[in-house]
Amino acid sequence: MATALRPMDKPQTGGGSSLSGKDVLSDLDLSVENLEAILHTAQAMKRAPKRFAKVLEGRYLALLFEKPSLRTRLTFELAIQQLGGDSVNYAGPIGDREPVKDVARNLERWVHGIVARVFAQSTVEELAQWAKVPVINALSDLYHPCQILADVLTLKEHFGRLGGLKLAFVGDGNNVANSLMLTAGRLGVHVAVATPESYQPDAAMVEKARETGAITVTPDPREALENADAVYTDVWTSMGQEAEAEQRTQLFAPYQVNAQLLAQAKPKAVFMHCLPAKRGQEVTDEVMECAQSVAFDQAENRLHAQKALLALLLK
Ligand code: CP
Repeated sequence: MATALRPMDKPQTGGGSSLSGKDVLSDLDLSVENLEAILHTAQAMKRAPKRFAKVLEGRYLALLFEKPSLRTRLTFELAIQQLGGDSVNYAGPIGDREPVKDVARNLERWVHGIVARVFAQSTVEELAQWAKVPVINALSDLYHPCQILADVLTLKEHFGRLGGLKLAFVGDGNNVANSLMLTAGRLGVHVAVATPESYQPDAAMVEKARETGAITVTPDPREALENADAVYTDVWTSMGQEAEAEQRTQLFAPYQVNAQLLAQAKPKAVFMHCLPAKRGQEVTDEVMECAQSVAFDQAENRLHAQKALLALLLK
């Protein structure tokens, strides 16, 4: 007679409004209260980094990267080091040699948190489903929440507020556009997305963002830039879409952020880019190098925002 084996206990998901122990798989895993706490903590850490030098003492994180990275990988490594913790790195596919659920249950035995850059959102969700430790999405096909934490910190530093600002995102309706709508929108920023009709953000994502924020989606970049305080763009061809590069380059040409387009925004508007930038495509060299550009402030703030996120998650 066959005997049924009792399955292993599955991890319980965390709840409550505190950030401690949470997974950050999409922007919506961070409440407005959480976002405000992250911004407040990031600013404090930026002002007095030494005060926080032991926050992660004795804590270890695994950094998993299926895709290339400069900013995300190095700023997470530095953030962990500056908070007194340590990290181990893995670069390669997740779930090829063994199921994702097995990867998760190995890692949770060794580390206190997992940071994962993945192709498919389902990979980071499966890691979180099976690992008892917090999982942070370091970019997926749908979201880039850590980038947007740095972006809203940059806007807050520059303008002294977020509520009432207008941000125009011009180009591809990609993961960065999704995360901007979901996070900046909930913090009171009017997010206007201008893309070719066939590259608009997913309609369900736009509907979700409209539940809590002012969101405009238009094919007209000039309409999006009207009265904008910030003009944001990203590469036209994201990682994994290389086969479409030529077609995209032609279709997206009217969405290039050049001096003429930037002039449609407010005179003191900032230019934003999550980087890496392809000069001559989505942005001209002149705009990247102009005094209105805060692209490298955004890159710096990846470090401070992620330090705050890690400290609050692993508290
Ligand atoms: N902006 C961003 O995520 O940069 P990397 O791809 O270099 O990590």
